[in-house]
Amino acid sequence: MKTLLLASALFAGLFGSLAAVPVPEPTPARYHAFCRTMWLFGDPCTEILTTLVTQIQVMTEYTLVSADSVVVKANHTSPESPEGETLTISLSPTILTGGCRATALSTSNGFTSLFDGGQNYCNLYNLVSASSLMSEPGFMELTNEWACLSYKLATCS
Ligand SMILES: *[C@@H]1O[C@H](CO)[C@@H](O)[C@H](O)[C@H]1NC(C)=O
Repeated sequence: MKTLLLASALFAGLFGSLAAVPVPEPTPARYHAFCRTMWLFGDPCTEILTTLVTQIQVMTEYTLVSADSVVVKANHTSPESPEGETLTISLSPTILTGGCRATALSTSNGFTSLFDGGQNYCNLYNLVSASSLMSEPGFMELTNEWACLSYKLATCS
């Protein structure tokens, strides 16, 4: 019982506190903030790819860098983040469901504080949200505080 309590206390300490983020120094002064997330889509990757590329092209803060059948790269800049962020989205088919799985990464080009106020998360979120892929059946977003700092605090607009 004692062991169990101790174990759960350790677990809560590790995962419930921001002090445990995977960064060696306690307060890194210079850091490239990032967000990594995974999306599941019910539709095939070819459709997802087309939708994402089209969406990037119509949104003014995004610039398409490159796209092939597997990887889409884009830049994002805004008045709040003039140095911008780099986005990489990799697609792979989910064989059993005929859908598509994407791993998406947004990284700040400039040095930032550890917390980017959700900027990198919102870069990814706004893209799928605006494309309406988010409301398609089978859509799922998977991330956590290790992969995407401050995503829970983000209010994307
Ligand atoms: C994207 O951003 C990178 C890094 O800032 C820059 O080197 C590159 O020229 C940009 N590409 C486009 C197409 O804007």
